[in-house]
Amino acid sequence: MRIMVTGGAGYIGSVVTEELLQRGDAVVVYDNLHKGHRDAVVEGAAFVEGDLLDTALLRDTFSQHGVEAVVHMAADSLVGESVKAPAKYYRNNVIGSLNLLDVMHDLGVRHLVFSSTAAVYGEPERQPIEETAPTQPTNPYGETKLAFERALRWYDAAHGIRFVSLRYFNAAGATERCGERHAPETHLIPLVLQAASGHLPEVLVFGDDYPTPDGTCVRDYIHVVDLAQAHVLALRALVQGHPSAIYNLGCGGKGYSVKQVIDCARRVTGRDIRVRVSERRPGDPAVLIASSARITHELGWRPQHQRLEAILESAWRWMQRPGHGAEAGLGNAPH
Ligand code: UFG
Repeated sequence: MRIMVTGGAGYIGSVVTEELLQRGDAVVVYDNLHKGHRDAVVEGAAFVEGDLLDTALLRDTFSQHGVEAVVHMAADSLVGESVKAPAKYYRNNVIGSLNLLDVMHDLGVRHLVFSSTAAVYGEPERQPIEETAPTQPTNPYGETKLAFERALRWYDAAHGIRFVSLRYFNAAGATERCGERHAPETHLIPLVLQAASGHLPEVLVFGDDYPTPDGTCVRDYIHVVDLAQAHVLALRALVQGHPSAIYNLGCGGKGYSVKQVIDCARRVTGRDIRVRVSERRPGDPAVLIASSARITHELGWRPQHQRLEAILESAWRWMQRPGHGAEAGLGNAPH
């Protein structure tokens, strides 16, 4: 199949592209490179530097590459930034995404896999979180992802564009070629590994007074390869006639605290990692753990890399490769 991957120059997008190419699909990556990296676009994929708000270029790209299905990952995705700059999130995540849907509708492209987020749930009362839990986002990032998910339902009803929306929990880890490289970096695992490699003096732990066993936040870390494979499965299912669906993607109902992640990183890297406890980061729920039972039951998806050690080892190996560690955003980002 000929597939457009929006955001394919980003961390998860590059791994999804890798998986699709490995399975014999043709991929065109459409990415404005605001956050993505040109050199993250996997060899073998076509690349168009473009914005979702540029409808003419988007339409041309569909036509020129004969796009038959879309994996839509291009988005702004920083919770803190979204609170300060909601307009940017509504413009890119909602208006840009609607442009994409309109082009798909005009050109008769009917299958879309969408990267959604656990942030649609806000502060859920029950763990693990099921897809039926109330959606009450606590920031514009989650709100804009949810707004587009809702639009998808109505485009399906009106125009027959079928979709699978995948609500990611905490993506982590790397392949041999693709890993996490944000600037500024805000995510726990790359920051912990930067501290292990000496690129950062210490890791800040954002609060140790949460109602969790060790007082630090608990998250559900899922290997990026497992995440990417879910996209491939979802796309195949849609093409085979599967109805539109929403699925959580976590790692088997088990979470790890910030302290557990740091301890595990010490073991995996064999390095000392200095830690300083600082204040809570606004908007962080204490615990976010997914139930992924629905996608396992309906699509047969099962994570293959559940051990946190394996996730950290893959990220550490990737970071050791020339250029990757030093290039990653240095210093803890403001929160
Ligand atoms: N943390 C620290 N110190 C740091 C960075 C993070 O203690 O320097 C903590 C956070 O407070 C949080 C945990 O580590 O408890 C994980 O934080 P990340 O920033 O790595 O990930 P989040 O859980 O905040 O965010 C992820 C995705 C978002 C998504 C969100 C859903 O990256 O895109 O889950 O709530 F919105």
